[in-house]
Amino acid sequence: LKPVGVLGSGYYVPERVLTNRELEQMVDTNDEWIVTRTGIRERRIAAPEQATSDLAYEAAKKAIERAGIQPEDIDLIIVATITPDMAFPSASCLLQNKLGAKKAAAYDLGAACAGFIYGLANASNFIATGMYKYALIVGADCLSRITDYEDRNTCILFGDGAGAVVIGEVPEGRGFRSFELGADGSGGELLKLPGGGSRSPASALTVDERQHYIYMNGSEVFKFAVRIMGTAAEEALRKARLNKKDIDLLIPHQANIRIIQSALNRLELDESKCQINIDRYGNMSAASIPVALAEAAEAGKVSEGDVLVMVGFGGGLTWGASVLVW
Ligand code: ACO
Repeated sequence: LKPVGVLGSGYYVPERVLTNRELEQMVDTNDEWIVTRTGIRERRIAAPEQATSDLAYEAAKKAIERAGIQPEDIDLIIVATITPDMAFPSASCLLQNKLGAKKAAAYDLGAACAGFIYGLANASNFIATGMYKYALIVGADCLSRITDYEDRNTCILFGDGAGAVVIGEVPEGRGFRSFELGADGSGGELLKLPGGGSRSPASALTVDERQHYIYMNGSEVFKFAVRIMGTAAEEALRKARLNKKDIDLLIPHQANIRIIQSALNRLELDESKCQINIDRYGNMSAASIPVALAEAAEAGKVSEGDVLVMVGFGGGLTWGASVLVW
């Protein structure tokens, strides 16, 4: 198998900033509660004319440019998202067309906030076996489109954004060392968007019942997240034959600063070894990890040979972790 790693990364967040102060005008909440309970100060909201594939396009252009390839070189596009522009065509087909990536196969991947890691695992196998040379993996979500801005339990948490990477063959000794993926469908009820699917097709009733908004059992998801972030990261390290002390940078899913801090405790890591952007962007679902990765790369926080651990969890329930030698 060929060693596979990241050749270029990029991210995009919409210009519009939604602050905690603004949310105070919308629901019964306050800045202090949101900051202490979640770590979030502001989040980005897509413009009315923007959809997920538009955000994905901006992030993908940067990743492709930094990888030093052309859109026509890409063999595979995977967009990890729970908020595609529409049920079909997929966001990845829309993106393929916008990019002019004519030769690429394209599909969406639905594993919620763990989707980007699932996407990396999927795509890296195609390259490791020699079937494909370059793959574009995007994590992109417009959670504002499925957020109930009358529900203070959820509306403070979510934001919109996209992060992308191009992956391909890298020199021996670098690249992905392991993936740890998992799912527990028995927890599906804890985090869901019930309306608009084949079980409950869009109708005046589903709209009346607010079924097209995220439903979340916050405290149960919190408990699951605290447990799984540590165990998934440790399992990915074990598979890579590395230890906690080998980690140079942790790139966690950004759902709640307290979940991130508990993962840091478990992995015995200082906050300086963690890429955090939840204060500025909130939870962007599949986009949180690739945006953080692209920000770290852009800021020069990662050097050749560094050990990165990405770890996330989300609706499904799903989880994923990966060890990447930069
Ligand atoms: N402002 C003020 N008070 C609030 C707010 C708010 N925005 N939201 C909830 N409260 C109240 C609650 O109503 C409750 O009041 P009560 O005791 O009178 O009923 C009180 O604050 C405490 O509520 P808890 O739910 O216990 O608060 P908690 O500390 O658990 O924080 C939170 C809630 C932030 C949602 C937390 O549980 C969490 O982060 N859960 C995980 C969320 C997550 O990771 N989701 C993943 C989504 S990923 C995806 O796939 C989209």
